Amino acid sequence: MRVAVIGAGVIGLSTAQSIYEQFHSTVSPLTIEVYADRFTPLTTSDGAAGFWQPYLYDKGNVQETKWNKETFDYLLGFLKSAECVNMGIFLQSGYNVCDEPSPDPSFKDTVLGFRQLTERELQLFPGYISFGWFNTALMVEGKTYLPWLMKWLQDRGVKFHHKKIESFKELAEAGADVIINCSGMRSGDLQPDAELKPGRGQIVKVEAPWLKHWIITHKFSKGTYNSPYIIPGSRLVTVGGTFQLGNWSEQNNSADHKNIWEAACELEPSLKHARIVEDWTGLRPSRSKVRLERETIQCDGAEIEVIHNYGHGGFGLTIHRGCAQEAARLFGQIAEQKGKIPKARL
Ligand SMILES: Cc1cc2nc3c(=O)[nH]c(=O)nc-3n(C[C@H](O)[C@H](O)[C@H](O)COP(=O)(O)OP(=O)(O)OC[C@H]3O[C@@H](n4cnc5c(N)ncnc54)[C@H](O)[C@@H]3O)c2cc1C
Ligand SMILES: *[C@@H]1O[C@H](CO)[C@@H](O)[C@H](O)[C@H]1NC(C)=O
Ligand SMILES: *[C@@H]1O[C@H](CO)[C@@H](O)[C@H](O)[C@H]1NC(C)=O
Ligand SMILES: *[C@@H]1O[C@H](CO)[C@@H](O)[C@H](O)[C@H]1NC(C)=O
Repeated sequence: MRVAVIGAGVIGLSTAQSIYEQFHSTVSPLTIEVYADRFTPLTTSDGAAGFWQPYLYDKGNVQETKWNKETFDYLLGFLKSAECVNMGIFLQSGYNVCDEPSPDPSFKDTVLGFRQLTERELQLFPGYISFGWFNTALMVEGKTYLPWLMKWLQDRGVKFHHKKIESFKELAEAGADVIINCSGMRSGDLQPDAELKPGRGQIVKVEAPWLKHWIITHKFSKGTYNSPYIIPGSRLVTVGGTFQLGNWSEQNNSADHKNIWEAACELEPSLKHARIVEDWTGLRPSRSKVRLERETIQCDGAEIEVIHNYGHGGFGLTIHRGCAQEAARLFGQIAEQKGKIPKARL
């Protein structure tokens, strides 16, 4: 079977990996090819801080909570091996602080050591004296993880094509049996999805090696990630944040820079001594929920099997592995229907 994956962000690469892991020994031959017009370090997944944390509340979407947890547990498993360094995975603790009391977040049982903040801790955050939580979470940094995934795939014979895909048809004509749509935000040409909207995010990366904890603020009237956050990484600290729904601009904006910086320095005054390294702007593929499903598309009388895996908003690294495993299960259904795999193996 020939599988064409569109997208080389964290979603496309991890989906290719899960398909290989689950089926290379049962579906033979299995050819996996990845098509993308941007590769690491130029994808959205590279620019993201790489902090493992979903939005606070899943609003009843327990499926996504489960995929988030699967991802956390999967990444946590690598901490027992030295390989975690090559993957960009490490533990990091920090604070979620809120401007009003709120129920426990959906991820409280997934992260490590979740608890409410004490009075003394709250006093560290003068603007957020009412409420917050502390826990240990993970970092999975795209700029390290994506090259690791690419090498993993290359070592197993997966081919990469630097190419913009204009239609599913061209992949079908190139011989693909199954197309996996992991194209993130920019894919207008492939068939628009009115539910998918860019959530523009600008961040400032700085050198401030004395900062060891992340701080995420929640101003509920402003919406997710529209108030300051500070996330130390392995080399640089990511300072945000903005979340501008419907804005397609990938340009840095000086007014956004100023607002982000002033609010962050109020939260963490020591940032005034940080060296500003760069700004970066990316588009979160925002959707009411992740689209992860099969679709059979008619194309000039032929049927093309497509698996969609996109719309991971501001939590693509946080949820990627759970979604990749699910996409691979869907691939298994197709392989079985096409008689490429013994039923007993599924
Ligand atoms: C400022 C900011 C901070 C963030 N921080 C975090 C964080 O700390 N933790 C977290 O979990 N998430 C974070 N996110 C969200 C995360 O970056 C995204 O959810 C994730 O990167 C989505 O991954 P993806 O693989 O779907 O998309 P992308 O990484 O954008 O990859 C899309 C791929 O599809 C390809 N493609 C698209 N269309 C075509 C086409 N027609 N032909 C060929 N190729 C095509 C592109 O070239 C690219 O390779 C952040 C996002 C932003 C903007
Ligand atoms: C493929 O995914 C993109 C989002 O990345 C979406 O806009 C598009 O509608 C999908 N293609 C099809 C044919 O459904
Ligand atoms: C989108 O963001 C850009 C860059 O910050 C800004 O110049 C532009 O005015 C914004 N557009 C809309 C429609 O908000
Ligand atoms: C944003 O600013 C950084 C430097 O701070 C630069 O490298 C990058 O190219 C800018 N992005 C755009 C789209 O201009």
